[in-house]
Amino acid sequence: MPLSTTSLIKFPHLLDRRGSLVFVEGINHIPFDIKRVYYLYDVPTGQKRGGHAHKELRQILIAISGSFEVHLTDGNKNVQYNLNNPSEGLLITPMVWRDLKNFSSNSVCLVMASEIYDENDYHRDYNEFIQKVL
Ligand code: TYD
Repeated sequence: MPLSTTSLIKFPHLLDRRGSLVFVEGINHIPFDIKRVYYLYDVPTGQKRGGHAHKELRQILIAISGSFEVHLTDGNKNVQYNLNNPSEGLLITPMVWRDLKNFSSNSVCLVMASEIYDENDYHRDYNEFIQKVL
């Protein structure tokens, strides 16, 4: 899918003197049925995550805490998102290669996914991915 199908989704954010509350309602805010949630944390300084594309899976990444960069390419265009806002989610569509890097200390990346884990849904070889999309 082209990069134009990726997007930032804004979630309702309630702020008062007691702090912030963000809520995500599957049926109202997520363009797929959530089958899995996972999170990345304690990523050591300088380590990278991602380094793959999915064949069918759609997912939404949220910087629940801290910040990190998401570099995306569809083989044609590249885009970089700096995620640092817990009330925003980045929708990544199928056949978009992602590299996650520059995790701040104490950052947490929450992921909501449209499918349960399936290694067969991954392209982990960049050249193989490029051959599929070009
Ligand atoms: P991977 O998707 O490559 O992680 P990241 O994109 O964050 O760098 O997965 C890393 C390992 O964890 C890999 O061996 C598969 C396993 N894994 C699961 O077993 N279940 C899951 O839901 C996820 C996301 C990964």
